[in-house]
Amino acid sequence: MNPTFRLRELPLAFRFGLTGVVGAVLLGLWASLTHLQDHHQNRDARPGVSIDDLVGAYHGIDNPAPFVVALEREHPKEQQAADRKLLLDWLKSDKVSENFDNPDLGPAAPAEIVARDCLQCHSRKSTQGEGIGQTIPLEYWDDIEKVAFSRKLEATPWPILVTSTHTHALAMATLAGVLMILVWSTRFVPFARSMVAFLLGVGLACDLAGWFLARESAALVWLVIGGGSAFAGGAALGCVLVLGELWLPRRGN
Ligand code: HEC
Repeated sequence: MNPTFRLRELPLAFRFGLTGVVGAVLLGLWASLTHLQDHHQNRDARPGVSIDDLVGAYHGIDNPAPFVVALEREHPKEQQAADRKLLLDWLKSDKVSENFDNPDLGPAAPAEIVARDCLQCHSRKSTQGEGIGQTIPLEYWDDIEKVAFSRKLEATPWPILVTSTHTHALAMATLAGVLMILVWSTRFVPFARSMVAFLLGVGLACDLAGWFLARESAALVWLVIGGGSAFAGGAALGCVLVLGELWLPRRGN
């Protein structure tokens, strides 16, 4: 299964031209990865691209605030119903940060209630509560802020998904096809050439299918991640093989 024609046999000027094309593809890959990072990383208001960012984009996320969930399941049991209600009303208000330690509220200020009812367990140095104070401390506003808000991320709207697919699917499929043809005409073992084709084609199909299927099931965001990585890896490997073929010395066969 060896190609009858190899890229190395092309005239010098042609090989320079092709090298420029491959360079452009590599630059494009780098830009896509960088764009992906900028585009997705701040969706969940935390630095870096997390699984939540991607689940948010492709599926949507609707996580209630842990603080509210805890109170609604009557945690801690010892808490007075009136205090629980004060906290819940505060958490559901639109002045969560303003009123947390509002001095005008006196002993009804959420910070006071938290200090009375929660900190014996939820402070970093607490000996009660099985060490929960280490994982979910509630001592400062910075701690509270992490559990006081629900997180709702809407999946990319359908028309935008379709528009994005129409440009991406055609461009990526064309790129994959061209790279496959080029890689086929290299000297490298069939396994390496086939691997590039497999990663590109199967990766692309999984990636694109994932964009749509992940709307139904959050777990299928992994199809996007796996497929996208395979495609990018296949494209990068393909470029390396093509460049190697173009510029490594001819082999005597
Ligand atoms: C007696 C110790 C104790 C007290 C008092 C206490 N907690 Fe907890 N809390 C725990 C323990 C232990 C857990 C972990 C096990 C669990 O979720 O029940 C926990 C878990 C939580 C969680 C995480 C629940 C989740 O589903 O992620 C939140 C939020 C929380 N507590 C808030 C509070 C608040 C707010 C108060 C005060 C109003 C409070 N806790 C008072 C011991 C305590």
